Amino acid sequence: MKFFVDTADISEIKKINETGMLDGVTTNPSIIAKSGKNFLEVIKEISTILDDRPVSAECVSLDYNTMMKEAEKLLTLGNNITIKVPLTVDGLKACKELSDNGVDVNVTLCFSANQALLAGKAGARYISPFVGRHDDWGIDGMDLIADICNVYDNYDFPTEVLVASARHPQHLLSSAKIGADVITIPPKVFYQLYQHPYTDLGLNAFEKDWAETGQSIL
Ligand code: G3P
Repeated sequence: MKFFVDTADISEIKKINETGMLDGVTTNPSIIAKSGKNFLEVIKEISTILDDRPVSAECVSLDYNTMMKEAEKLLTLGNNITIKVPLTVDGLKACKELSDNGVDVNVTLCFSANQALLAGKAGARYISPFVGRHDDWGIDGMDLIADICNVYDNYDFPTEVLVASARHPQHLLSSAKIGADVITIPPKVFYQLYQHPYTDLGLNAFEKDWAETGQSIL
């Protein structure tokens, strides 16, 4: 399972990159606004840190022609840019055109398996179903992931299921059990994955007992 982080916070990206676990970065207009940085500059910076791993940068226009122009500009920011488009008629038209020309496209704001099917037909590299925003409405977001994985298993789409709007470690575990290809998580959730109280308790006991031996390895 690939781990992406859903942030434009450069210091967090650098820190997580050093763990050796980072497979990519995703952003959206809200994340860019939160960063307070210039969109093009911050994407360029993230692209350099990530090197050959994918960085999703989202088109903000809603019509096909302007979306294509935005995509063209975003692609100049690095060799690892994935173009993010919304799941609309124009978004999927742009997805098809870009994908046919060898550009990786991440189709975002997916809330149904039928939408995911359309993105697959449009040649998307990633489909981003939003699990947390489903949960917000009292609907289990993981059912959507299972449905999309089932549908994709029946066909030969080039599309990876990228679980988005993931808000806690349980989203990650459930996605992994279903077999989703990728998950994008906030930095906080990334660090939560490492944590378990029994790990801390065990470590404390080992430290204490080791100190009593008076020995040192080095
Ligand atoms: O990038 C899309 C998605 O991850 C947003 O998450 O928490 O704002 O629903 P959230």
